[in-house]
Amino acid sequence: MTPAPAATASANTNIALIKYWGKADESLTIPTASSLSLTLGGTRTTTTVSFDDGADGADAVTINGAAPGGTARARVTRFLDLVRARAGLTAAASVVSSSVVPLAAGLASSAAGFAALAAAASRAAGMDLDDRALSRLARRGSGSAARSVFGGLVLWNAGVDDATSYAEPVETAGAVGAGLDPAMVVIVLCEGRKTIGSTEAMRATMRTSPLYPAWVEAGREDLRSALAAVRERDLPRLGEVVEANALGMHAAMIASRPSIMYWLPRTIEALHAVRAVREEGLPAWATIDAGPNVKVLTRGADADAVAAALRDRLPGAAVSVRRPGGGVRIEDTP
Ligand code: DP6
Repeated sequence: MTPAPAATASANTNIALIKYWGKADESLTIPTASSLSLTLGGTRTTTTVSFDDGADGADAVTINGAAPGGTARARVTRFLDLVRARAGLTAAASVVSSSVVPLAAGLASSAAGFAALAAAASRAAGMDLDDRALSRLARRGSGSAARSVFGGLVLWNAGVDDATSYAEPVETAGAVGAGLDPAMVVIVLCEGRKTIGSTEAMRATMRTSPLYPAWVEAGREDLRSALAAVRERDLPRLGEVVEANALGMHAAMIASRPSIMYWLPRTIEALHAVRAVREEGLPAWATIDAGPNVKVLTRGADADAVAAALRDRLPGAAVSVRRPGGGVRIEDTP
């Protein structure tokens, strides 16, 4: 097989509504539980890959104009090793990646990044993967990337091994998202980079938090309830379980020894602001990932009003509206 000279792909990031936090198998990224997410529009990372054996025979990686070092670079190289092993290639790769959303926007970059990398690298290596196989491959780069292969509402089936752990659009999983009209309002409170990465933090939570098993257990019912809410197009029911699931995840993290606390004082202020906006009658439910910023699930038709109400209550915060977006796309190589 002759590999194509270069391939370019893009993917949007996603926000988990029912969270993934913990791996049952670290080397394969098999999660302890299934998760549910919304892919967000206008958050694409675009990545070009070629297996051209570079200048010095090592992978050349550029992300947003700079060469990443340390763990970030090692993760990309390890992922490329996986693609090379599957495709039977030995050549080093050139990877050039750029994101329309700055890191500081408070949106996870690894989900979009590894979904785009999986699509571009597999194609450049001459592999022709269907979406499910692509989701399984992206999962190996970063768990949440398995979901960014698809647009809209996405379910990542935890599975028990490499073949059974993949994401799929919620429609094909038996629930219909149309009519629900979900959107997200993103509240950026702090632009600093997080103190502890999610991979390490989830490992510590699993190992040391007495609350972790209870959160996983509750999460199974949360997912059933969330999928039922999607099927019934019941946004308030979905919102309640989304907020509870995220707060439970953070409670488990905070109970780790030593404690893992992503929240800042302003995070709590934002949680109260979301609650106040909801009490005024607007649809708004909070979720928080591995950082201090707050994302708010709302109805598309009310998103601008929710954003305005939150801006009033949180001076100095950067508040933006994000609507559902599409899945991985193969692009023309520049
Ligand atoms: C809190 O997918 O970044 O955003 O698989 O170790 O790369 P790795 O972790 P990652 O974790 C995401 C954690 C989360 C919840 C979620 O997206 O489901």
